[in-house]
Formats: sequence, structure tokens, C-alpha cells
Amino acid sequence: MLADKDRIFTNLYGYQPWNIDAAMARGAWDNTKALLELRQDTIIDRIKASGLRGRGGAGFPTGMKWSFMPKEPRADRPSFLVINADESEPGSCKDREIIRHDPHLLIEGALVAGFAMRARAAYIYIRGEYIREAETLFAAVAEAYDRGFLGKNACKSGYDFDVFVHRGAGAYICGEETAMIESLEGKKGQPRLKPPFPAGAGLYGCPTTVNNVESIAVAPTILRRGPEWFASFGAENNKGTKLFQISGHVEKPCVVEEAMSIPFRELIEKHCGGIRGGWDNLLAVIPGGSSVPLVPAAQIMDCPMDFDGLKALGSGLGTAAVIVMDKSTDIVRAISRLSYFYKHESCGQCTPCREGTGWMWRVMERLRTGDADISEIDTLHQVTKQVEGHTICALGDAAAWPIQGLIRHFRPEIERRIIERQGGGLSPMQEAAE
Ligand SMILES: Cc1cc2nc3c(=O)[nH]c(=O)nc-3n(C[C@H](O)[C@H](O)[C@H](O)COP(=O)(O)O)c2cc1C
Ligand code: SF4
Repeated sequence: MLADKDRIFTNLYGYQPWNIDAAMARGAWDNTKALLELRQDTIIDRIKASGLRGRGGAGFPTGMKWSFMPKEPRADRPSFLVINADESEPGSCKDREIIRHDPHLLIEGALVAGFAMRARAAYIYIRGEYIREAETLFAAVAEAYDRGFLGKNACKSGYDFDVFVHRGAGAYICGEETAMIESLEGKKGQPRLKPPFPAGAGLYGCPTTVNNVESIAVAPTILRRGPEWFASFGAENNKGTKLFQISGHVEKPCVVEEAMSIPFRELIEKHCGGIRGGWDNLLAVIPGGSSVPLVPAAQIMDCPMDFDGLKALGSGLGTAAVIVMDKSTDIVRAISRLSYFYKHESCGQCTPCREGTGWMWRVMERLRTGDADISEIDTLHQVTKQVEGHTICALGDAAAWPIQGLIRHFRPEIERRIIERQGGGLSPMQEAAE
């Protein structure tokens, strides 16, 4: 188990107050000026050396992302950091714990990361439903200004840096980085076509980096304890500690900081009290939030919980929102419910996503009840392939992948429902097995 001394998030459960005095007693804002004195390029080099990969889902190397920002921003075209606290992915609930129990880790991270990117300000975009969390964040930012940690000559570094908190209105798509930028600008939250990428033309047409809350909140601790310390956890290419959010059919659902690459079985045994009804009762796991394909029980048991381990199983770490399903789960219904979510959240700009998400959901509903023809399973699969990779943003992929995972691993179950509904007989897969 990750030792307490190696935890970055020491107030994850809110046993202590979130306020600035308590946060400082835990080590936040401890001579932040010295971190800034490392200067921009050294900070970026150290974040690169730590092996930190973005915690918002895609796992893009964080230091490399920061290095794309201009080294000499023009006065009329300042650079910005946007912090993604939208956290609308079903299953995901880690950024919320950071914001409500340890917001100063995030705010200090905003200053350090923003400084490293030579940004003028950071915008924290928080999902509309996080009402209490937003209140905490507003109050924590005000505390940081009062102490002189933000604003003009932040932390007496000679650097001016502002942090703004912006509340969303509850649309999942505003978590996508370019939709978030549109929304911040006061427009409808619809993704932009890339390129140009935000580092070239982002918020108000200026160079912008969008990072997840966790990616930013870990930065000051990495700099204080050294990149080697962070890189001592996890497998090659999958470094660091990580917040896992385990929900569903485990004895004790929780959010916990663990070493990256911990095997699935160990994660569940150590922190969640095991699977409800025992390990033989495990059916499948969605390991990275609703957008990634499910993995059947037998395959995930000993899998390292990291980017590469789950990719090798045809799934992904995503945000490390681990949704555990035992054998009481109606797996077709569960995936159909996710299809409904993506249909509901599609912004409607691209035809394959706008039309495809609704079409896929309607077919999923018929597969759920068995009111379908067996040939429709292949048709549905083909349609997921026509949506995947043919849209402006990754919501199209996110809608396609859970269905692909279901068909890949649970085709006999889908066929069984159709056959039963039609009054019996053997399915094509059963016939082949005969
Ligand atoms: C539909 C959609 C929703 C997303 N929602 C979130 C979100 O809620 N939080 C988040 O950090 N990233 C989300 N992302 C990923 C962001 O676009 C972006 O990649 C991420 O914030 C980058 O941060 P990172 O490099 O620190 O991981 C979403 C992406 C898509 C396509
Ligand atoms: S893929 Fe869907 S959500 Fe993304 S831009 Fe296109 S229509 Fe909008």
C-alpha cells in the first residue's frame, strides 16, 4: 500500500479543515517563491522528468504540453492556463475531493504551472452542479489573494498572476477543452475543430493550455519532493501516484490515492473490502469512466491499473474512475444507459455524433429487451465504427467504445435475449460451438 508519507493529498477525506492555515500546516504554500525561482524552463524540465501524464483522461505528458506554450508571450496576446474542473464523466469524482478538502493544493499548482507556462492568469472552470465546491474554491482563492500569494507580485516573486473561478451550467461537453474555452468566452459550449490547438489559439484567440485539476494540484509537491520521487511509483511510462475512484459493487466504494500500476485485485482488496459477494461474483469492470470499453472479470483481475496495462486489454485508464459490476448487473441495460447519456450530451455539431448517438441508443434499447434481429448486432458494430474517429471531438468515440466493448465481450448474452424473445432455438454462436 502507498505509505502515508508518500501521499500528495493528505486531506482527501476532509478530516482537517480546507482553509489556508490548515493547508499551510500540511505543507501547501511553503516558500512557493523558491519554486518560482527555479525559473520556467527548469520547472517544465522537472515535470517532464517526473513522468506525469495528464489526469483528465487522455494521459498526455504534462511537461511536454506546457513546453508548447510561447516562451515570449506578447503583451497584447497573453497566455492563459485553463483548469478543467468540469468532472462530468460518469464514475469520476476525484477532482471534487481535491476542491472541497484541499483547494490550496490546486490554487498553488495554478500559480506554479501558470508561471512555468508564462501565463498571465488561470481560469478554473468548475461544473455547475458543484455548488458547495465552487463556494469553497471562491473562498480559498480569496484567502490566497489576502495573503499576497496571488495577484500583483504573487508570493513576492515579482510575477503578476490572477486566478478566476468560472462556474459551468452542467453540460458534459464543456469538459472537452475547446468547448470549455468557448464556454469561458460566453458562447455555447461546442468543441472547436483542431488545429489550431489551444497552445496556438485558445482562450480569446490567445495561447492556452487546458489541464485537469489533479494534473495541476500535484505539480508543487513534485517540485518540492523531486521528480525522482514521483517517478519512483508506477511502471515505466506510467509514473506517479494517482487518485482512483472506485464505485459500484465493491464492499466500500471510495476515492483513494495509490501508486500507479497497482494490480486491480490489490486495489480492490486493500481499499474497498473486496467485491460484493466475493471475487467469483465479479462480472466486468469499466476501469476509466464511462467512455472506456468494459473489461470482463477474468481479464482485469491481475491487470496493472495504468495507461498501458489497460490499453493492452483494449480499454483505458481514462480518469481512473473504476466502475465495478457484479453478476447481478444487467450488462446490456448498463451500457444502454450510458448510450442514452451520450445521446443526451451530444452537442449536435457533427452528423455522425448527433444522429449516431440517438440511433445507437435506440438499437441498444431493443437489444436490451431482445426486440431485435441477430444481424443487427453487426450493424450496430459497423455504425459504432462509422462514428468513431469521424467527429470533431472525442465524444463520438466515447459513445462508440462502450458498445464495442459490450459486443466484443458479451455477444452471447445479447444473442440469448433475442433468441429468448423469439421463443428459443440456438444462437449462431451456440450453433458454432455445437
Ligand atoms: C466529451 C469530453 C469530456 C471531457 N471532460 C473532461 C473533464 O470533465 N475533465 C477533464 O479534466 N478532462 C475532460 N476531458 C478531456 C479534456 O478535453 C482535456 O484533454 C483535459 O482536460 C486535459 O487535461 P490533462 O492534460 O491534464 O489530462 C473531456 C474530453 C471530452 C472529449
Ligand atoms: S462529436 Fe458530438 S459532442 Fe463532439 S463536437 Fe461533434 S456533435 Fe459535438
